[in-house]
Amino acid sequence: MNPQTHADTQMPLRVDRAYDVAEGLRSFELVLPDGGELPAFTPGAHIKVQTPNGALRKYSLCNAPDERGRYVITVKREENSRGGSASMHADLKVGDTLPTSVPDNAFPLVDNARAYLFIAGGIGITPMLSMIRSFGDLAPVPWKLIYLSRFAENTAFLDELGSPDFKKNVKIHHSEGNPDQEFDLWPALEKPNTAHVYCCGPRGLMEAVRDMSGHWSPKNIHFESFDEGGKTLPDDKPFTVRLARSEKSFEVPVGVSILNAMREHGCKAASSCESGTCGTCRTTLLQGEADHRDMVLMPEEMDSQIMICVSRAKSAELVLDV
Ligand code: FES
Repeated sequence: MNPQTHADTQMPLRVDRAYDVAEGLRSFELVLPDGGELPAFTPGAHIKVQTPNGALRKYSLCNAPDERGRYVITVKREENSRGGSASMHADLKVGDTLPTSVPDNAFPLVDNARAYLFIAGGIGITPMLSMIRSFGDLAPVPWKLIYLSRFAENTAFLDELGSPDFKKNVKIHHSEGNPDQEFDLWPALEKPNTAHVYCCGPRGLMEAVRDMSGHWSPKNIHFESFDEGGKTLPDDKPFTVRLARSEKSFEVPVGVSILNAMREHGCKAASSCESGTCGTCRTTLLQGEADHRDMVLMPEEMDSQIMICVSRAKSAELVLDV
């Protein structure tokens, strides 16, 4: 094993195919070097990969979970990224080895739902695709997909999702970059019901869905985000975290999450999505004012809880019950 391989990505996969699926969007098909069966995954699962330039990135598996010979991921080339996605586009070729994790799922399909409403923005379509593909020809319950993007040319999987097979279930909308042509989600969310809503896409879309679904049962609303460890904002500052029970104190620099700072200081902490949507890293906040950046906490929980994978501090110090 390459000693520089990240601890999370110890399964080397070979790139079997690579192809563009829309402007700035490239799919990679990954297989085991011996062509064997890959570890199973469930709809909505993701893998982590170590990109050719050494960054750790998380991508949804978008093929059907009953395909055991390959994983398919689709990567959007982010213009303002730290280079992970650009490196996947520019440097990863057919035949290359990609260090990969086993699949994890922070966005699982609830299997006793009466209906599903999928809301995807841009590349946020990828986890929904494995969900829809898992239904095969006979979906267990009614479902509907609202697929939003700016322009047709940078919208992936239009041929499949726009096909007659999906016509009655799928609404595709392009805003053409015009705020006046944004899709109105309110009619779909106005009346709470027993459907489970799955939303993945840009932060603004997820916040809009969260704001419009405040009168739904929180158990029925699910988000997935790919902002690894949260985005660095221009006003971010370092701050101190004190762990009350472990009696440790350390600085959390700009660009590092509390979760990763804790791990660097030898503390174990559970996580899954690492993007503020699954709730796994929920931690009790004893003192200090948090800068909440997750999609999980209810307003009444914000004084006493924090999602340490994305949130930061407004005060100089946070004291956690760890
Ligand atoms: S690990 Fe999912 S919310 Fe933090």
